[in-house]
Amino acid sequence: MEVVEVSDIVAVVHDRLQSQAADKGITMQVQVADGLPPVYADKSRIAQVVANLAGNSIKFTEQGMLQIRAGFMPRDEGRVIVSVEDTGIGVPKEDLGKIFDLFYRVEKDKVYVEEGAGLGLAISREIIRAHGGTLWAESMEGMGSAFHFSIPSYQGQAAVR
Ligand SMILES: Nc1ncnc2c1ncn2[C@@H]1O[C@H](COP(=O)(O)OP(=O)(O)O)[C@@H](O)[C@H]1O
Ligand SMILES: [Mg+2]
Repeated sequence: MEVVEVSDIVAVVHDRLQSQAADKGITMQVQVADGLPPVYADKSRIAQVVANLAGNSIKFTEQGMLQIRAGFMPRDEGRVIVSVEDTGIGVPKEDLGKIFDLFYRVEKDKVYVEEGAGLGLAISREIIRAHGGTLWAESMEGMGSAFHFSIPSYQGQAAVR
């Protein structure tokens, strides 16, 4: 665990996935709020979560864009929120509660043609929980998806256990 800037984590993931997104014609955008406080986190694990989410967006989007945003929780500067949003195939309403389960994948051809074991979201949720945060999803089938996680920001030495 270390004090780390979220912008650094997001930049690493952007650099790593940029060509993959470009190959599919997906525009990738990164936006980090001014004055965003750092977080106290395992940098590589949070990068793994962002890469999982952005990787899913690239897999499950045929055209359009992928946006990674980092900012504050509304009315709560003690938490940083990171959002990964896409214009992809979306998640059917009845599956939205299950996609964080181990091995769960939506039963659609558009999902099965893509590689995956259905583990990324389950692992990501555990990593975020271990940081004292939460990970959740919003989506409409055919319209796109938004995955968000919030983790506590670094408030100085007193907040560190
Ligand atoms: N951005 C997304 N757009 C549409 N469906 C998604 C997205 N992210 C996740 N899903 C759905 O949730 C399932 C579980 O995701 P994940 O655990 O990362 O597994 P995997 O990537 O191995 O399929 C996926 O198989 C897919 O059905
Ligand atoms: Mg995945």
